[in-house]
Amino acid sequence: MSARKVTLIPGDLIGRDLAGPMTELVAAAGGQVEWEWVEAGADCTGEEGPLPPACIESVRRNGVALKGPLRTPEGTGSYESPSVVMRKALGLYAGVRHVRNLEGLKSRYPNLDLVIIRENTEDVYAGLEHEVHPGVVESIKVVTRAASERIFRFAYRYARNHGRRRLAIVHKANIMKRSDGLFLEVGREVAAHYPDVETREIIVDNACMQMVTNPYQFDVVVAGNLYGDILSDLGAGLVGGISAVWGLDQGDDGVVFEAIHGRVPGLLGSDRLNPIPMLLPAIRLLEHLGQQAPADRLQAAVERVLTEGRVITADLGGDARTSEMVKAIREAL
Ligand code: IPM
Ligand code: MG
Repeated sequence: MSARKVTLIPGDLIGRDLAGPMTELVAAAGGQVEWEWVEAGADCTGEEGPLPPACIESVRRNGVALKGPLRTPEGTGSYESPSVVMRKALGLYAGVRHVRNLEGLKSRYPNLDLVIIRENTEDVYAGLEHEVHPGVVESIKVVTRAASERIFRFAYRYARNHGRRRLAIVHKANIMKRSDGLFLEVGREVAAHYPDVETREIIVDNACMQMVTNPYQFDVVVAGNLYGDILSDLGAGLVGGISAVWGLDQGDDGVVFEAIHGRVPGLLGSDRLNPIPMLLPAIRLLEHLGQQAPADRLQAAVERVLTEGRVITADLGGDARTSEMVKAIREAL
């Protein structure tokens, strides 16, 4: 098997510390990957800004990437989220987040298996905000028929290809009658072509309540950009948080596997980070490359270390250092 070239974007948060150990573990598991390391994020202080063209070009060239989270500053005067800019620049229109338990990881719910599919390119993430008058700001929610149709077609195809029978369309068309109204209308049109998938419509606030009280009623969930973002984290919380979930941003010409992780105040460089959030997307990447055996080995090693519970980091209830947990995973391989 020859090594496949993959863009690796460690980013400016957990990936700084965890990308190296991730590549070592992938190799130790037998993964054949040639990593092309590229920089993005706040560490890129040059003129090109936090998302250098070389980063985008690398993903475009390789068609497959693994990315750590990137700092997203808050408020005016700061740059636009590089993650969001990348999704738009590369046409990664579908955000897929699988909500599934990881063996050995404590969670609110066992045996959960649902998929959240999120429209990744528009909605209020269009970044169109302006002050119309001092003290009055407008934020524009963009919903187009084209992008809605594209995400619904993707979601129904995904359901069909993965043997999933139920799909819930999440919206707030009772309030945003035109924007969410269009999203819902297009969803209904596409649904008509997939009679084998049972479609249900659900308003976003109720979707949150239903997901917390009985998540098993969901199979595939489709939402716009913002609702999808919120529901994804809600879903992560159901299965044990950052260790259990990973993200996939998919377009017609490329896929980016993402670590789903927020900020880590005081933890960078401390050898205390949980290594799993960077490993799960790597495992899914190996599967995507057709390297199922190394993927299974790495997944089993992670689950074994979690199940034994002796060498785990503080966020998982232990007191191990990152390096110790990485070593334990390597030994479990
Ligand atoms: C995510 C994150 C991003 C988003 C941020 C960091 C821009 O929350 O990938 O879910 O909102 O999409
Ligand atoms: Mg998010």
